[in-house]
Amino acid sequence: MESSVSQIWPIGGGKGGTGKSFITGSLGFMLAKQGYKTLLIDVDLGAANLHTIAGVPNPSKCISDFINKEVATLGETVVPTPVPNLFLISGAMNNLDIANLAHEQKMKVLRGVAKLSYDYILLDLGAGTSFNTIDFFMISDEGIFVTTPEPTSIENIYRLIRSVYFRKVRQVLKTYAFKALADEAERRNPRATVSNPALLLQIVGELDPEKSVLLRQVLESFRFKLVLNQFRKQDNYNIGTLICKIIEKHLALRIRHIGNISFDDRVHNAVCKKRPFLELYPYTQTALDLMECCRMLLPGKEACPSFQKVVE
Ligand SMILES: Nc1ncnc2c1ncn2[C@@H]1O[C@H](COP(=O)(O)OP(=O)(O)OP(=O)(O)O)[C@@H](O)[C@H]1O
Ligand SMILES: [Mg+2]
Repeated sequence: MESSVSQIWPIGGGKGGTGKSFITGSLGFMLAKQGYKTLLIDVDLGAANLHTIAGVPNPSKCISDFINKEVATLGETVVPTPVPNLFLISGAMNNLDIANLAHEQKMKVLRGVAKLSYDYILLDLGAGTSFNTIDFFMISDEGIFVTTPEPTSIENIYRLIRSVYFRKVRQVLKTYAFKALADEAERRNPRATVSNPALLLQIVGELDPEKSVLLRQVLESFRFKLVLNQFRKQDNYNIGTLICKIIEKHLALRIRHIGNISFDDRVHNAVCKKRPFLELYPYTQTALDLMECCRMLLPGKEACPSFQKVVE
């Protein structure tokens, strides 16, 4: 039986051009091929281009129709793609800039997304750590972070992951269950704040061991994943694992490296042809990497090696 609760995967990157849209489109393609009803949403409103990757060059509707109240529900802006089971809410043709989206408009989109019913909803986010981008990570415990192996991109992804994580921790600490305890921890040691989660957890553990276990559980419920894209032969294969270890050490956050996606010039060909890379070039290393990445994201990954729908 299918669950009516959509799995929502926000997909972001610290830097432009790392491959967020390519990965969003490719994951959507694979999920749809496995029979999952999948929706791609382009939230990169300033520079929307997911419609091209999804093979819908001229979408008839887009997300700003909902924001501008031309339609009553977000569901009315969904358009089909050439791939069965794969749908799109385009960010094209809008004159909105996500960075300047008013709080109420953003909340409206977030509420609209929460009301949609798909097996998977993939959000292609704008690059960087702007307040608005981070807000879209708050909609779900999941988060997929895309970087290339270049140091500049890694620096930026670290910053993005830290910002998203701190925002989530801050939200948890504001709740009734933890507010007084977090205040007390900060009184005891002014450095025990959201910016220093390891120390905060340590002090909270001294103050209230039971609640500290609960807090740890809540923080561990965030399922952050790291993807390295545009991976070349000369790159260090273990760099993803190293980044995850550094994040765990500095932020007390467990993040899972779910794969290296090989660089392939034919990605460019697929984008130019406005066709899914996986359809045009299924027998390439990059396609295999994408499939492995998708497998790592699905529940019961060990038992799901092929394009079979697992939730039936
Ligand atoms: N694995 C890959 N191999 C080769 N080229 C790739 C790969 N992934 C992405 N590209 C290329 O990199 C460029 C950027 O990809 P994409 O548009 O998906 O990135 P993005 O992170 O969404 O960018 P933006 O921040 O501008 O939205 C495109 O030209 C795409 O063809
Ligand atoms: Mg993009």
